[in-house]
Amino acid sequence: MTVLVTGATGHSGRHVVAGLKAAGVATRVLVRDPAKAPEGVDVVQGDITDPASAAKGGDAVYLLWPFFTGEGIKAAVEPFKGKRIVYLSAMSAEAGGVWGDVEAAVEEVTDDWTFLRVTGLATNALGWAEQARTGVVRGPYGQAKRSLVHERDVADMAVKALTEDGHAKQRYLVTGPESLAQADQARLVGEALGKPVRWEEQPRDEAKRQLASSMGEEFAESALNHWASLVEEPEPVSADVARVTGHVARPFAEWAREHFS
Ligand SMILES: NC(=O)c1ccc[n+]([C@@H]2O[C@H](COP(=O)([O-])OP(=O)(O)OC[C@H]3O[C@@H](n4cnc5c(N)ncnc54)[C@H](OP(=O)(O)O)[C@@H]3O)[C@@H](O)[C@H]2O)c1
Repeated sequence: MTVLVTGATGHSGRHVVAGLKAAGVATRVLVRDPAKAPEGVDVVQGDITDPASAAKGGDAVYLLWPFFTGEGIKAAVEPFKGKRIVYLSAMSAEAGGVWGDVEAAVEEVTDDWTFLRVTGLATNALGWAEQARTGVVRGPYGQAKRSLVHERDVADMAVKALTEDGHAKQRYLVTGPESLAQADQARLVGEALGKPVRWEEQPRDEAKRQLASSMGEEFAESALNHWASLVEEPEPVSADVARVTGHVARPFAEWAREHFS
């Protein structure tokens, strides 16, 4: 069995590659720049939006679709027809959007799919790095409570789903072990840095202008609506990581120590 890993240079993908190698599974990576590819694996140079490069894949695929729309997804997954596909999705796939479009396209080409629906990735907090060093993180909805998940837990789930039977047609909810206000996340980043870090509330309009410049108006609006809802209703905490991997999900404080100290 050979597993094709997309996003192998990214946060979760690099740990998926390491986990597959540790399990002795033949691993191939689809990368845009071979110079950035991890060592000791087969390398396919290409682009996930180009079906010709995806066609050089293996029997199973770790799929990332790191875009804000599902445009082009049907053609992109066509080469994976009948293969095992483990897709890094989002809890909000339930409501459609890009993740819903990708899930639907994957379901059309294979019955052997697993969706890793994350609430949010802890790596989002890397965007605060520069501000945190100044002692103040400015953002919208500091009291939004999120169950951010460590990228290693996403990867551990992916390695299980890629290499074991019994995960087909599962929509796992992949979360951290607790739901924490963003302001508390910033405080924990400060503890990891060894200096106090406080949250400063950013007006929604200003946040929307900033977000829209990178992710587009529509995506920015839905992200802000989601965070607003999490002030009253925290993101859920799921036991799926523990159930599938056999270990409890890593807490945000551990993630912060790994990335900020
Ligand atoms: N952030 C969240 O809270 C959240 C929540 C739910 C779901 N997700 C999903 O998680 C996924 C990963 O996000 P991330 O921020 O952690 O990113 P990441 O995995 O750290 O980085 C993105 C990866 O995709 C690769 N890539 C980008 N464009 C590509 C292309 N055209 N063809 C092939 N590879 C390409 C990049 O490779 P290069 O080295 O070539 O740049 C990189 O390895 C996204 O698909 C996102 O939808 C995120």
